[in-house]
Amino acid sequence: MTGARTPPEGRLPRVDARDKVTGAAEYTYDHSEPGQLHAALVCATFARGVLRDIRTAAAEVVPGVRLILTHRDTRGAVGPGLALMDGGQFHTSFDPLAGPEVRYHGQMVALVVADTPEQAEQAAALVELTAEELPAQVDPYAADEADDIEVFALRRGDPAGAVTHADLVVEATYETAAQLHQPIEPYATNARWSGDRLTVWSPTQWVVGEKHGLAAALGVEPDQVRVISRHVGGAFGGKALTLWHTVYTAEAARRLRRPVRLGVRRGQMATLGSFRPASRHRVRLAARRDGTLLGYEHACRTQGSRSDVLPLGGTALSARLYRFGAVAVREHVVPTDVITPGFMRAPLEFPTSFALECAIDELAVAAGLDPVELRRLNEPEVDPVDLLPFSGRNLPACLDRGAELFGWSRRQAPVGSMADPRTGETLGWGVAAAYYPGYGGGPTFCRARLSGDGVVEIALAAQDPGTGLRTALAQLVVERLRADPRRVRISLGDSDLPLAPMAAGSCSSATAAAAVEDAADRLLRRLRDLARKHWPGQEPAPGQAVPDRHRIVTPGGTSIDFGEIARREDGQAVTVEGSWIPEGLTPGMVADARAGRFVQAHETTPTAYRASYGAHFAEVGVDRVTGRVRVRRMVGVFDVGRVLHAAMLKNQLRGGMLWGVGHALMEQLHVDKEHGRFMGVDLGSYHILTHADAPAVEVELVTPPGPHADPVGARGAGEIGVVGSSAAVANAVFHATGRRIRRLPIRAHDLVDQ
Ligand code: MOS
Repeated sequence: MTGARTPPEGRLPRVDARDKVTGAAEYTYDHSEPGQLHAALVCATFARGVLRDIRTAAAEVVPGVRLILTHRDTRGAVGPGLALMDGGQFHTSFDPLAGPEVRYHGQMVALVVADTPEQAEQAAALVELTAEELPAQVDPYAADEADDIEVFALRRGDPAGAVTHADLVVEATYETAAQLHQPIEPYATNARWSGDRLTVWSPTQWVVGEKHGLAAALGVEPDQVRVISRHVGGAFGGKALTLWHTVYTAEAARRLRRPVRLGVRRGQMATLGSFRPASRHRVRLAARRDGTLLGYEHACRTQGSRSDVLPLGGTALSARLYRFGAVAVREHVVPTDVITPGFMRAPLEFPTSFALECAIDELAVAAGLDPVELRRLNEPEVDPVDLLPFSGRNLPACLDRGAELFGWSRRQAPVGSMADPRTGETLGWGVAAAYYPGYGGGPTFCRARLSGDGVVEIALAAQDPGTGLRTALAQLVVERLRADPRRVRISLGDSDLPLAPMAAGSCSSATAAAAVEDAADRLLRRLRDLARKHWPGQEPAPGQAVPDRHRIVTPGGTSIDFGEIARREDGQAVTVEGSWIPEGLTPGMVADARAGRFVQAHETTPTAYRASYGAHFAEVGVDRVTGRVRVRRMVGVFDVGRVLHAAMLKNQLRGGMLWGVGHALMEQLHVDKEHGRFMGVDLGSYHILTHADAPAVEVELVTPPGPHADPVGARGAGEIGVVGSSAAVANAVFHATGRRIRRLPIRAHDLVDQ
């Protein structure tokens, strides 16, 4: 925190910014161990089949090669890893080196270790595979619906019946493309054994889970494993779970008795971990002529793998968005020959929100209503599924404030009626709602240690994947203790620290904050007690001593530096523990969390439904000749409950909104149906939003505390920025062009006459 200053508005700048921009922050691949070796991966070049032979002779004679691990050498050495859905920590239960079976193109089939990364890469390129190939199905829409696996269904009332007496029915199919994880930092692993103790550096969102997952797969006790994830260069869900290359890097290090480092190449990112699956949504809305909703039906098919069944539909959440009258939603997973798709920012909500929020826009057009007005009209008083009160719900306020900031009242309703004479573009203005469940997070513990130099160190096994958690927690400690920001240190990303949950589900900041608040309060009470003990003449009345600028000030006027208090103690330090057990978690669940299992309190509590809400407004400019769409500006207003650090949060929300622009207009993981592979999986070919494409984005927060919020008062803040954002863009494209494009990404040729 050297040099950090509290700005006038009392908000800390990003505490690790200096380390990050100067390169001092150590990411996994930056970490070096003396004597370390380097690994590279060999990946399958066909989509499905059985390896008959792996010829390694040419690779073995490359200078510096130490080891080539294939399924022939690994059987029995590495045990099974349980996928998250089966109570474990792995992204997929399918161990790619367990046997000769290949289930997807790009599957890791060998790991080569050499003295240098170049030698390892060269040798990996010389490994030859021969296989008995089998036909593969990677296109979910070509798969037989009979093989679909139903993963979720919910019904309230009779929405199909509602259609028969509805004045307006919107029925449409929406499609979203598969999306590739490409955080700025690719996957990497660094593994070192010291005797029978393993330390793994890994860019993970869950150091505790990875510790237990690795221990299980490698056949050692969890307390022999330490996982370090100090800085993560973006994660978005792709680094939430343990991946098999991490296991095998550690296994190679065990065999070679040398540290081994693996840096995954850009082009390999698509098939070593999660991706966002393609999805198809059939939505039917029934309404009265005045726009009152009578029924909502939503059936979605989401791409899956043959190895794991992971529901990613999200209709359980969309079913609570409006006063629908009656609801019937269903979700199916379509098994295909790909690695298991999985988490990517708002994995459940994002594609589903595109379908629902476009359908709502279509209904607004059919009803002749303003789309903001239609949403306001169908605002529920209680959660329509469980009939529970909302733990704060300010969607109307978000819509109103967003409309005001955007200038929505100047919108001309007829399609194609707005233009920018300066650029010649036809303008379109679109709106969509955002929502994200307020998961309660997992059990969180925290240690606060004040040392003789006055430094307050807060330590917990949480992770900061770039979200700003370190900064938000530092801010909290500064406020709570009136501490000097230069003498506050936040230690995260180490499984040896007190238990904290996975950084996921938009609840880790709130969860960590609750434990840190508890620790800070306990530390303050201890400091008051110690001030009374060590400065008897100056003793303050209980509760009266106030902290100020890293000092306890007694009513007698004595001002005692925190460090001075610590120096009076044995060991020259004061240590306290804080904790937070979210409502609804039993002691058994806390024990499960300690054992490395995923534990999270639900968004539905016995007394309330807890979620965050927001509204996106987007302006597009469409060139009617070329079909080019440019998002010119966006406004997002969000209600997320209590805000811990507005600048960090707005940054995430802005990033999510921009990702929505990419989702709407650019991103698409193309499939080569002939060879069963994803195409263009590197950043040279996969089209993402860049700075040059990014519109001006304005983000505002409305944060009235909800009546049913937990003591932290936060309701899910990280991921909501992306939810609904692509729908706002697609709705704006309709407003500009009159073309309802229901398949993402929207391409130029969708918008020009062919
Ligand atoms: Mo996130 S997709 O909850 O890491």
